[in-house]
Amino acid sequence: MATHASPTATPSAPFDPSAFNLFAPDQLANPFPTYAQARRDQPVFYSPMFDMWFVTRYEDITTVVKQPHLFSSAEALESTDRLPEPVIELLKKGYLKFQSLVQTDPPEHSRVRAVFGKVLTPQRVAALEPGIRELTNQLIDAFVADGEADLIPQFAFSLPALTICDLLGVPRSDIDRVQRGNNGRQTLMGANSPVEVLIAAAHDYLEYQHYFIEQLERRVHEPQDDLLTLLVPAEIGGSAPLSLQEAVCNAIDLFAAGHETTTAMIGNGMSLLLDHPEQMQALREHSELLPNAIEEILRMEAPVRGLFRVTTSETMLGDTQLPQGARMLMMYGSANRDERQFADPDIFDIRRKDANKHVAFGKGMHFCIGSVLAKLEGRVAFELLLKRLPNLRRHPERPAVRRPNLILHCFDHFPIAWDREPAA
Ligand code: HEM
Repeated sequence: MATHASPTATPSAPFDPSAFNLFAPDQLANPFPTYAQARRDQPVFYSPMFDMWFVTRYEDITTVVKQPHLFSSAEALESTDRLPEPVIELLKKGYLKFQSLVQTDPPEHSRVRAVFGKVLTPQRVAALEPGIRELTNQLIDAFVADGEADLIPQFAFSLPALTICDLLGVPRSDIDRVQRGNNGRQTLMGANSPVEVLIAAAHDYLEYQHYFIEQLERRVHEPQDDLLTLLVPAEIGGSAPLSLQEAVCNAIDLFAAGHETTTAMIGNGMSLLLDHPEQMQALREHSELLPNAIEEILRMEAPVRGLFRVTTSETMLGDTQLPQGARMLMMYGSANRDERQFADPDIFDIRRKDANKHVAFGKGMHFCIGSVLAKLEGRVAFELLLKRLPNLRRHPERPAVRRPNLILHCFDHFPIAWDREPAA
């Protein structure tokens, strides 16, 4: 559906959880008035449509993320349990569980996270900047002469995908294989496709696991200056304190976690800047404003609406009693607009002093491990897009299209236009 979101006043009608539907055209285009209604009237509510509890206030989210023993991340995402038997049998030929940091509680979480903390250092990320700059320019080179492009497939999709390949040490030429495996994993996690589609996805996912096993094994004898080399586990002759399964699954998860989240940030940021041309102009003239502008973009339109937790026992959150086993979505996108936390939260202001207090990267022990990389990509992307595409504007005929998705707040299409350089 087409969209051009702008802040609107909070409806005075009481919030109705049964009318909460993130995929309804008005809520898809602009979910923020509905979030504000919920924060005001029923900050923790059960949605029959999603069969899930939603947590909308900044303070409640802070309470939840501090107590992993009560609000667990393990099994909180879709698990393999809902898949048909033949698909499970097939997946048993590889690693059955979608094991990853984001779905792990302490103490395993602390052990695996420490490995990533050691290898994904700010220095390693900073060293990627020249490559990101070159890649960004190459992507823009491919369409700059056209005077129009669809920002998502032609730019925002490829930049983070190829950057994670570079980070891991996966050859860029293997991107189609990686993409196929990642899509297979997503299809399996959704678990709602016909069985033959799930079987095809399981084959792709198994092939993807083998791909990473091969890549890790190759590095035992031919170490590279890349992240995968640092993840080679002791089990196969490396030094990382991980099992082979943990190394493979977390490499796979890094790609999933760091790809379309960043795509979404670029699309959402472009939308905000085009709605605020004077701030876009300020960024063109003062690139030193970019880092804070990226924080404000993440605050205003969090790419990840929220992430999951499950209650381990019956518990109270604020005034709401939650049963044991309650599946919950921490609505980071709503917390970022909480009027108890941010003054004038619906105003986009690239100079906002406390923009970086947003929770777009989560909070606490699961705080995003790729935040520095994502912000670097955002800074370089907007610096070069604004510099190289004069008189940048929404495409006059083709509207932007948002994706109906519970987790990602993102665009599938964002057509833009600009003034072409006159032919020399
Ligand atoms: C704008 C882009 C991004 C956004 C909005 C984002 C958002 C998030 C959020 C909200 C969480 C917290 C999960 C929770 O509370 O359960 C998270 C965790 C995580 N992110 Fe990101 N992320 C982004 C980019 C990246 C990148 C580029 C990478 C990898 C290079 C990455 C890897 C991860 C990992 C591995 C975790 C799990 C950390 C843990 O559980 O300890 N993310 N991210």
